[in-house]
Amino acid sequence: VDADGTRVFELTAQVGSTQFLYDTQTTTWGYNGAFGGPTLRAREGESVRVEVTNELNEVTTAHWHGMKLPAKADGGPHQPIHPGETWTAEWTVEQPAATLWYHPHNHGTTEVHVYRGLSGLFFIDDEATGTDRDPLPHDYGVDDIPVVVSDRAFLPDGSFDETHRSAAGMLGDTILVNGTVNPTFEATRAETRLRILNASTARTYRVQLDGGSLLLVGTDAGLVPEPKRVDAITLTPGERVEVIVQLEPGETKMLRSLPHTLGLLGTTERASGTRDPLDLLELSRPATSTGEPVFETLLASAGGTLAAVIPPLDEPDERRTVTMQDAKINHRRMNMSRIDEVVTVGARERWFITNEHFLAHNLHIHNARFRIVSIGGSKPAIELQGWKDTVYAPPSRTVVIDVEFGTATDPHLPYMFHCHMLQHEDQGMMAQFVVV
Ligand code: C2O
Ligand code: CU
Ligand code: CU
Repeated sequence: VDADGTRVFELTAQVGSTQFLYDTQTTTWGYNGAFGGPTLRAREGESVRVEVTNELNEVTTAHWHGMKLPAKADGGPHQPIHPGETWTAEWTVEQPAATLWYHPHNHGTTEVHVYRGLSGLFFIDDEATGTDRDPLPHDYGVDDIPVVVSDRAFLPDGSFDETHRSAAGMLGDTILVNGTVNPTFEATRAETRLRILNASTARTYRVQLDGGSLLLVGTDAGLVPEPKRVDAITLTPGERVEVIVQLEPGETKMLRSLPHTLGLLGTTERASGTRDPLDLLELSRPATSTGEPVFETLLASAGGTLAAVIPPLDEPDERRTVTMQDAKINHRRMNMSRIDEVVTVGARERWFITNEHFLAHNLHIHNARFRIVSIGGSKPAIELQGWKDTVYAPPSRTVVIDVEFGTATDPHLPYMFHCHMLQHEDQGMMAQFVVV
């Protein structure tokens, strides 16, 4: 924190070397290290400044996924950072507690920059979180654990295989959690909060805890009003979920991704990797560990809710249609010099998203959070009922969302909305809007 109270972060995108496998080194990219990036953290109402230095030998950007902020701070394709340069992003946090993340967003090279290792988490706190009054487990690294999940394919010499492509994108057979192969976590308390991010460029996970349910406490853009038990949660690229898991002393449970369906034709399911069972994270608690579950008791004594109840939209100010085709949105490929939509600041909009293509796609909107009204005419699953910024769009169905944008305006600099399967985004499945 500097003299005027601004929270300052410095990130340097750099090339490094990481040992993932037993006997080889992998060339990787990271922020302030060889792979991944530090977890940044700021509070609602706080001013933030991030200085991002590019020590790579090509242009990159740093985008704050899920953040409401001025377009010039967004870090999308209009804020390139050339090699050797430093770019500064400044904004005031104007949203409640959530688990956001950051990653490169240079048009055409986003997928490969993320795949090589550039991404990190960005936690937002509000007055109710991260303090003694917070009923949620909140000791970072102790009972509040980042779980950044991604997949990689390795070549025999240990390097990442960047050619292992399907129609969905690059699919790997090796899972990394926070940059680690075969990750384990030893719990020291009865309850552990997992902040799970699907940081894969293409793969979808169906997350489940062997022999136990997950207590859902948060979605992409915030905490849920009422914690709910769920058996499994589907996460497409870019989506997050916060869950609490309980372990008895001496217990070990595997967090897994199970085969699932995205509602696609059979061969397309395979190309999306949905048929693959994958171990994500082994959680264990030593037999000598003491302590009982306390979360639900603390929550009840705190008044019962984690976040404001999501207000339904009676009458949207604006309705917008988003259709998705092969490498296109609304039948057009991304064009950096074309503004596709103009949003009026403060407007509450209802968007109708239809995937007209046969492949799996999702939609992410910058500078916004939204609530899913319906998917193919039905009520969304429990894990899709909280605040979101990324949503799966199944083929031939319409996803209806109520969108709330940030308060900043800029008539010239746009924000993006796009498929977060990054190969598709790079191919042009992205469009631009300004807020005026
Ligand atoms: Cu996570 Cu436009 O990105
Ligand atoms: Cu984003
Ligand atoms: Cu897509």
